[in-house]
Amino acid sequence: MQRIGVLGSGAVGTALANGFLKHGYEVTRGSREPAKMADWLGKAGPQARTANFAEAAKSAEIVVLAVKGDAAEQAVDLAGADALAGKVVIDTTNPIAASPPVNGVLRFFTTLDESLMERLQRRVAPARFVKAFSCVGNALMVDPKLPGGPPTMFICGNDAAAKRDVTGILDRFGWATEDLGGAEAARAIEPLCILWCIPAFQGRGSKHALKMLR
Ligand SMILES: NC(=O)c1ccc[n+]([C@@H]2O[C@H](COP(=O)([O-])OP(=O)(O)OC[C@H]3O[C@@H](n4cnc5c(N)ncnc54)[C@H](OP(=O)(O)O)[C@@H]3O)[C@@H](O)[C@H]2O)c1
Repeated sequence: MQRIGVLGSGAVGTALANGFLKHGYEVTRGSREPAKMADWLGKAGPQARTANFAEAAKSAEIVVLAVKGDAAEQAVDLAGADALAGKVVIDTTNPIAASPPVNGVLRFFTTLDESLMERLQRRVAPARFVKAFSCVGNALMVDPKLPGGPPTMFICGNDAAAKRDVTGILDRFGWATEDLGGAEAARAIEPLCILWCIPAFQGRGSKHALKMLR
């Protein structure tokens, strides 16, 4: 699987698109306004392209969803169910609500009984969503170098083969992968974003990641 479609013009889209390019993949980055990524494209090298969401999804073997949580369903609609059908969709999104954090604690628009990824999986049933990269800041998503060794990326999804593909990518990107099961495990994984953000909001930096110890 070499052709990656990264849906997202933000910081996560940039970090992961650059990471995939660094690790030898071809990347098409999608946005509603591809022109806004012209600077990135100018520096990204010959394996990089930009397109709208639909073209980026269609041209890819694996799709990365890196859009604002409350626009994720719209972005998936713009990408198109046909373009996503059968494909691994790496879901980095978090359902962060518009209302401000309380003492550094983010608010979500979902509940603990329904994650954003479950909504997305229901919306495009033939796509093979895998939650990943949602529980760490974008600066550490690729090749994290931390004194405590490789951190843990928590993933989940309904398709075992899709999770094997994503685990292969995470191996290359320097992560230990913890597969927590089916899509409903995203109810626990997505809130790890709230946990990760608290020290950052408290001014203790963003060079931290989570690790499962046994
Ligand atoms: N920032 C981090 O370090 C971090 C870490 C882990 C997970 N996450 C999660 O990763 C996702 C991306 O985060 P981010 O910080 O890179 O950027 P972001 O500002 O959350 O999202 C930017 C992207 O959202 C798209 N978007 C916004 N409104 C839209 C709409 N109405 N319809 C369709 N698309 C829309 C934008 O599309 P256009 O390009 O068309 O404007 C853009 O590509 C979020 O869900 C976030 O919670 C972020």
